[in-house]
Amino acid sequence: MKVGIDLINFQTSQYFLDLATLAQVRGTDADKYRTGLGQERMAVPPPDEDVVTLAASAALPLLEKTTSADIELLLFGTESGVDQSKAAAMFVHGLLGLSKRCRAVEIKEACYAATAGLQLALAWVQQHPTKKALVIGADIARYDLGSPGEPTQGCGAVAMLISTEPRLLALDPETGFHAENVMDFWRPNYRTEALVDGKYSTLVYLSTLVDSWRQYKALSGRGLGDLARSCFHLPFTRLAEKAFVRICREEKIPEPAQDELQRRVGTSLLYNRQTGNTYAASLYEGLTSLLDNDPEDLSGKRISLFSYGSGCMAEFFSGVVQSSYRAHLFTAHHQQMLANRTELTYRQYEDIFRYQFPDDGGDHVIAPYRTGAFRLQGVRKHIRYYERAT
Ligand code: CAA
Repeated sequence: MKVGIDLINFQTSQYFLDLATLAQVRGTDADKYRTGLGQERMAVPPPDEDVVTLAASAALPLLEKTTSADIELLLFGTESGVDQSKAAAMFVHGLLGLSKRCRAVEIKEACYAATAGLQLALAWVQQHPTKKALVIGADIARYDLGSPGEPTQGCGAVAMLISTEPRLLALDPETGFHAENVMDFWRPNYRTEALVDGKYSTLVYLSTLVDSWRQYKALSGRGLGDLARSCFHLPFTRLAEKAFVRICREEKIPEPAQDELQRRVGTSLLYNRQTGNTYAASLYEGLTSLLDNDPEDLSGKRISLFSYGSGCMAEFFSGVVQSSYRAHLFTAHHQQMLANRTELTYRQYEDIFRYQFPDDGGDHVIAPYRTGAFRLQGVRKHIRYYERAT
């Protein structure tokens, strides 16, 4: 039985800061961000946008192309949840008007959380082949102002419909995965910005990649030559290029020339370069970017995916692109969304960054900014109220 990704849609903020602007204010060479990290812009969420609004806006177009009553599982991976107890999935379930017969749960393991959701959903649809699962990854990546992580900030959500008749990507059963208790990136409950041991985090990312790859290779009998394209978790896009080269080195094959590297990995990096890190969503933002933009017809081709969540959990897996995939993408929506964003000045970015969400239990209406289909209307007596954006 085939199982995999039937539909996929990506959503990000309508606002961005150009990293050339940030470089100027921080007194850094803009090429460090553009070439060294591989980032151009970072998406900045306005006060009325959070992971719930991003996630619901990402999922809405999928519901227009499926029978929503068939969705009996909603798994929402995020590290930027809005409540310590209530799942962000429950707000999304309400905004989308999903069936009451639906398990809706939030999952956490840093940037790996949506992959946990995806793997659980694949097993679940195998048991319930006429049903569908909605898996969402959404995050707001925040580091301290002026810290090395700042230029890798971003925000976004990816929603995926998982079924036994996948129109986009049929996933292979063989996967390599690796768990290890490390402190490379974390966010204590009392902080709104992540803490990170940046250099160490990149080393753990690459070493767990090698371990996951070795397992995947042993289980599947496949090598790099069987993989037409490779998508990686994208804290910043340069790391994906390094990851691909690392696998080549592990395989003792020559490092790819620049044009080959771009052919194998480059198309998956286009969106992330414009949004920054979207944590749980970022691998699947890369997959969306690849399917939307690759100039070659990928039908029947096998592509690999590497998921990494600090703390840490890593997984290497693959899937085969389905023949009619191009007819079921939301390419125009993604390209228009990225092209029509509003650029912020540095001052506007810092004002938004410093905006304090009201926590006094009073009645607060949040001013409307540009958002996707949903927005946070306000907070009253510690309850968040969402609405359709006009
Ligand atoms: N022109 C071109 N390149 C330049 C340059 C210039 N003028 N100046 C510097 N560079 C290059 C450097 O040589 C370096 O490249 P190499 O790594 O290939 O040598 C690159 O730009 C970055 O420079 P630094 O290493 O000096 O950068 P930094 O120390 O200030 O910050 C970072 C880098 C540690 C990754 C930081 O961005 C960070 O902490 N990021 C957040 C953590 C992160 O993303 N970790 C990734 C793995 S963890 C994970 O995956 C989970 C997650 O999502 C967070």
